[in-house]
Amino acid sequence: MRRVLITGVTGFAGSHLVDYLLPRGDCEVFGIWRWRSRTENIEHFRDKITLLECDLRDATSTMDTIEKVKPDWIFHLAAQSFVPTSWIAPSESLTTNVLAQVNIFEAVRRLGIKTRIQLACSSEEYGMVYPDEVPIKETNPLRPLSPYAVSKVAQDMLGYQYWMSWKVDSVRTRGFNHEGPRRGPVFVASDFAKQIADIEKGKKKPVVHVGNLEAQRDFTDVRDMVRAYVLALEKCEPGEVYNICSGKAWTIQKTLDHLLSLSTAKIEVKEDAARLRPSDVPILLGDNSKFVKATGWQPTIPFEQTLKDMLEYWRTH
Ligand code: GDD
Repeated sequence: MRRVLITGVTGFAGSHLVDYLLPRGDCEVFGIWRWRSRTENIEHFRDKITLLECDLRDATSTMDTIEKVKPDWIFHLAAQSFVPTSWIAPSESLTTNVLAQVNIFEAVRRLGIKTRIQLACSSEEYGMVYPDEVPIKETNPLRPLSPYAVSKVAQDMLGYQYWMSWKVDSVRTRGFNHEGPRRGPVFVASDFAKQIADIEKGKKKPVVHVGNLEAQRDFTDVRDMVRAYVLALEKCEPGEVYNICSGKAWTIQKTLDHLLSLSTAKIEVKEDAARLRPSDVPILLGDNSKFVKATGWQPTIPFEQTLKDMLEYWRTH
């Protein structure tokens, strides 16, 4: 049985990763949480995994936890992951994301254990992408446009550096946007779906508030994304970086229109200036050929299905 440690297990991708791993029956799952973590995403498997209290920003706490588990694999998903928060609290976003990464690497290095680490890096690292640069390859320049994106560049580069300096084995996955049930309600598709569900329930006036609808994103269903994370550790090269994406872009306008088409409610759309960003990444459309070649992975769930599942999720939650 492989020993698998998941940081961010109570979150969106973390909980879907456990849903994927447990039925395989080939691993023992350990998850990191903090005393105030919300647990609604993990109630359905809570008794099937071991939860360990740990704050990844604290080196001692991280070292103790990794020493206790001695994991074969770590999926490092925990982060301050909402881009707008990183302008409001830049130091907190940078500290949380970068320090947690260093603490994990240092623990693995100092313990001298053979652990493979998946690093949840991000397509946000590409930031300012020009029209002639799509679909984006891993070799594209990184021009981050938010403190969050800078923190992910740092995590990504630390992955490279710890491999080159110390042979600490990690695979850097640059995940493009992923969506699905349990997605935090601040992120765009979940935000719109929740607003529509609240309108249908009569809990909200029939107005959906929106930000920049012109941006384009390459969306993958979270269930395909977590399958890719596992393949990354099964098949990819240590120290290497891989885009994980569908290779198709949707404008945010199209995403909104599709969600609205799934409802019979009469809904008005209103721009909310507070939802506009100081600098928004205009287009993320990725080239997944490096990862597909290494693993054979293909996304299987169309984005239309993902959006339907998200709306259903908010209708029932
Ligand atoms: N959240 C939000 N709310 N975004 C909106 C809204 C709105 O009301 N209206 C328009 N948008 C636009 C944003 O300006 C952005 O261009 C796009 O929708 C997506 O926003 P988010 O869903 O907040 O995601 P993100 O692209 O900033 O970042 C997500 O994907 C990254 C990978 O590319 C996050 O999950 C990151 O953690 C992740 O690294």
